[in-house]
Amino acid sequence: MCGIIGYTGEQKAAPILIEGLSALEYRGYDSSGVALLADGEITAVKSKGRIAVLEEKLENTKLPEATCGIGHTRWATHGEPSDINAHPHLSSSLALVHNGIIENYRAIENHLSLSGYDFVSQTDTEAAAHLIDFYYQKTNDPVEALCSAADEMRGSFAFGVVFANIPDTIYAIRKDSPLIVAATGSAGLIASDITAILAHTNKYFRIDEGIVAVVKKGEINFLDREGKKVAQNEETVDWTVSRAQKSGFSHFMQKEIFEEPDAIRKTVTPRLLSGIPDFGNDAPNGETLAKFDRIHIVACGTAMHAGLIGKAFTERLARVPVNVEIASEFRYRDPILGENDLVILLSQSGETADTLAALRHAKARGTATLAIVNVIGSSVAREADSVIYTLAGPEIAVASTKAYSVQCAVLVLLAVSTALGRGQMSQADAEDICRAMSENVPDDVAAVLKMSDDICKVAKKYTGCEDLFYIGRGIDADMCTEGSLKLKEISYIHSEAYAAGELKHGTISLVTEGVPVVALITERALCEKVISAIREVKSRGARVLCIVTDDIAEDFDIPCDDMIRFPASVPELALFSAASVLQLFAYHAASARGLDVDKPRNLAKSVTVE
Ligand code: AGP
Repeated sequence: MCGIIGYTGEQKAAPILIEGLSALEYRGYDSSGVALLADGEITAVKSKGRIAVLEEKLENTKLPEATCGIGHTRWATHGEPSDINAHPHLSSSLALVHNGIIENYRAIENHLSLSGYDFVSQTDTEAAAHLIDFYYQKTNDPVEALCSAADEMRGSFAFGVVFANIPDTIYAIRKDSPLIVAATGSAGLIASDITAILAHTNKYFRIDEGIVAVVKKGEINFLDREGKKVAQNEETVDWTVSRAQKSGFSHFMQKEIFEEPDAIRKTVTPRLLSGIPDFGNDAPNGETLAKFDRIHIVACGTAMHAGLIGKAFTERLARVPVNVEIASEFRYRDPILGENDLVILLSQSGETADTLAALRHAKARGTATLAIVNVIGSSVAREADSVIYTLAGPEIAVASTKAYSVQCAVLVLLAVSTALGRGQMSQADAEDICRAMSENVPDDVAAVLKMSDDICKVAKKYTGCEDLFYIGRGIDADMCTEGSLKLKEISYIHSEAYAAGELKHGTISLVTEGVPVVALITERALCEKVISAIREVKSRGARVLCIVTDDIAEDFDIPCDDMIRFPASVPELALFSAASVLQLFAYHAASARGLDVDKPRNLAKSVTVE
């Protein structure tokens, strides 16, 4: 989604804006631009394409000696990617950058046109710029103008605004879309997220909705619409710039897969007290969890796939029915939510519009909500009744990997806590699983990471295929959904995940000579069944890659063309090692195809529009 950066301080603004926009590239974009404020004038430079194109344009433009400006990377929602549609958008008194969607921009355009405003772009954002200008011309008060305009707009927005006649100052206001502000001794900054300003500070504020942040060098004032100062909580991340960079890996995705052992340890260990799960005051614990009659896990994409793992463990250990829903469908299906239900929202970014909307729907229905989120202070985290943070650190690659693993880890702990609360599990068994989660699982995943080169060799044998099936049974069928999405979204190889027992009910008609089938086996009790499915597809000419735990590979004769066997010292938690194998397989297949693994075509890291 769009990225916002703003700087005001002692240094030339343009290079700092470019540096910030480069750190935001991972959000996915198709154009970019900056607006520089100096001597009562605003100079805007915008371009379609990568930031390098903008940099070249800046080099060929006579720029003012500006120490204040705003910048933007645009992920098009209204109007095609173009120079004119790129942000910042200008009006007579200001320049504005925006992340979000103004749903009623046509109506705003109509009444502003009658007031003499001309529209040159196809964007909703230009309407916002003129609307703020309209109120500023009327009130000569930037805070009042921003609040009045915000009242009139429907949809989502995070705005960074500079006014030509207000030097060295950036104004920020948000609704639904993310925006943070920060101040150091020599600067004031705004950004879509912390990675854009880590070079300057690791302390920042999220702006409450309806509050205007007035950002100057070294100071920020948070004002309500009456101009009264309000307090905002400062947050701190321990993410240094180096941590948010690639640290020597070829891609962010590779780095983040290799961070999984540490991410799992950091997420699990602080949530264990006397050997069993304890989420402290952040979230409901055993007794509270035990009271829920039904749990709904609602998420998108990879997070939804983690929800399938949560269902498997919660139903198996706690015997509580769990419904997993795609967030974009949830609120339109008039879901049946009982008064003793719990809705769990899973989201790495905490800004996914569909997941946020599902959360609001559940809350409006009076249902208890729990968020499991990776980005501290994000919208889903802030609006849920309670939140458990996955402490995976920044996930920059568009393809989610470590976030999936830590989401599954939290869901396993929640399942154990629920099972204990419902008397479905002994303290000893709970302690065994929790110990395995904090010790065995990270070690097993680390062992898989050492196999990366071997996995790469196998993956390269499949880079030429255009269609591929993932099959498994039980929790392996759930894992296959994630393995398939990983492969599709970064290698562009079409793949489909199928419950192994279901193939013969139709889809096996697609299995012909040479069609690759990946069979995942981590559940010993279901191994024979999957072997039968392997035989079925092999008899039709399929080429089978079996991804299987070491112990099962030792004990069963599996008819396959290729095999990746991996360690899982605690079989019922083999999913964590299997996830890393599936992620590395997809990563190496995409890398071998020479693709932009971290920024796959058409995709954004956080889908903040519906
Ligand atoms: C994951 O690889 C995908 N990029 C995508 O499916 C993602 O998981 C989904 O958009 C949900 O994002 P969230 O976890 O930030 O809500």
